[in-house]
Amino acid sequence: MMNRSAARLVAIVMLTAGGCFGVTAAPAPAPASPVSYGVEKDIFHPVTAQQGMVASVDATATRVGVDILKQGGNAVDAAVAVGFALAVTHPQAGNLGGGGFMMLRTADGKTTAIDFREMAPQQASRDMFLDDKGNPDSKKSLTSHLATGTPGTVAGFALALEKYGSLPLNKVMQPAITLARDGIWVNDALAFDLKTYGVETLVNHPNSKAIFWSVGDNPLQKGDKLVQENLAKSLEMIAENGPDAFYKGAIADQIADEMAKNGGLITKADLAAYKAVERTPIGGTYRGYEVFSMPPPSSGGIHIVQILNILENFDLAKYGFGSADAMHLVAEAEKYAYADRSEYLGDPDFVKVPWQALTSKAYAKSLAQKIDLQKAVASSTIKPGDLAPYESNQTTHFSVVDKQGNAVAVTYTLNTTFGSGIVAGDTGILLNNEMDDFSAKPGVPNVYGLVGGDANAVGPNKRPLSSMSPTIVVKNGKTWLVTGSPGGSRIITTVLQMVLNTVDFGMNVAEATNAPRFHHQWLPDELRVEKGFSPDTLRILKEKGQNVAVKDVMGSTQSIMIGEDGTRYGASDPRTVDDLTAGY
Ligand code: DON
Repeated sequence: MMNRSAARLVAIVMLTAGGCFGVTAAPAPAPASPVSYGVEKDIFHPVTAQQGMVASVDATATRVGVDILKQGGNAVDAAVAVGFALAVTHPQAGNLGGGGFMMLRTADGKTTAIDFREMAPQQASRDMFLDDKGNPDSKKSLTSHLATGTPGTVAGFALALEKYGSLPLNKVMQPAITLARDGIWVNDALAFDLKTYGVETLVNHPNSKAIFWSVGDNPLQKGDKLVQENLAKSLEMIAENGPDAFYKGAIADQIADEMAKNGGLITKADLAAYKAVERTPIGGTYRGYEVFSMPPPSSGGIHIVQILNILENFDLAKYGFGSADAMHLVAEAEKYAYADRSEYLGDPDFVKVPWQALTSKAYAKSLAQKIDLQKAVASSTIKPGDLAPYESNQTTHFSVVDKQGNAVAVTYTLNTTFGSGIVAGDTGILLNNEMDDFSAKPGVPNVYGLVGGDANAVGPNKRPLSSMSPTIVVKNGKTWLVTGSPGGSRIITTVLQMVLNTVDFGMNVAEATNAPRFHHQWLPDELRVEKGFSPDTLRILKEKGQNVAVKDVMGSTQSIMIGEDGTRYGASDPRTVDDLTAGY
């Protein structure tokens, strides 16, 4: 058995090698010495609390959220405070220059979703990411100024706070301002991510280098202090003047200027026109539980519910966790769902997404009937179904529950680690590269290997299709599980497994988080598995025709479960270091 420190080291190496996660951590306010907060995690026992709880990828941000809860803020207040804090402490994915989604279930049972996904600028066009020969140029969609969609985070948090929060914006933003101004200490993971990913992106932009590089022309290292004065000023402007400071004021001027000077498309008009939108969540049922997750422009809610509907036709509990039969059934269901994703999913403001058909029990049954327990179907023979009419890469998720029982799940991102790597002017704000989530050309995979077609083609003012899936599961009418994850295309299947592990396999939230994960996304025809499954299982899966590939860890769930007696049980992901679940 590995001891805990060795296990954590392996986790760091695995997750950074996978290029998907990294964690910064710094106490608030900045300590006198550069101590890395190594938060030891119990992988079998959840953290417990009786009133409020926060689970996030960053220990400092979690503490910010718990403080807000203790001061009487509700879950939305705390979530917004965590979101702004992560923009400072977790620059790999926490952001002001990106976008995401918030799922909320209030204590009295209302569910709603806030969409603050980036939007393609007005001048965006279908073939903007193709080269002279008509092939997708991923440099354009990932690291050029064209990669950035109009950011949604500030509008989304402001909308959430205005409609569902109880504290003023300047109060919930204060911890982030302090962290940016006073500085945080760089820990192992941020240092590793800067060295590994920053050298491909941040280093190319003087504004970004000025923040994340030391005088000696090296990325900041563990123990260095990261002070973000410009970001602090931007945060202060937003705290004082509201989202208009970002979308219409001095910050908008700088973003538009950065774009105009460097061939980007975002104008002041794009920023002024940006709107976060409240949407109705996708709801489904699974073995008597209710599942609420993100509607389009995320594909997450629809496909989580679709896969659960298919799996309801099989007795997974009988086969057991980690059995080849159960894994095979899940993988086959996933193939059908991802095939449909490629055809039908896109921005609902532009395309009619047939969500009712995709999430219907009847359609799921017809797909379940195609599944052979003994034999995998080759992905090449699967096509998107005929429907009845009617992803190194970084994203971050956090979950919050308050003492009243309001629950918030937020997943937001810059897309890949540090986004485009571009900081707009003197704003200190890193800009996303979310435009890569569009389908640059039908059938050609994006950075996560996802393919798409017309429904997710680039278009002016369109939101790129996402997989981010903040999810809330309800048991007997009460909020039961609040969860979500980063991981690009693997988000959907990671969140799905949180549901299967808890509902079908009876795991507690820590066990469900810790259990090894697997993933199939139709194309490529590969059953990707983490280490930890039995060799016998993998052999049987191969005999069934699954193309098994053992690869890096997937996801970083941050989850909270509420027990029958109201106890909050939380778990951060052992695949990530320095994240923290805490409550009171
Ligand atoms: O919206 C999406 O689906 C992607 N931009 C998410 C990126 C992501 O999860 C990267 N993380 N590991």
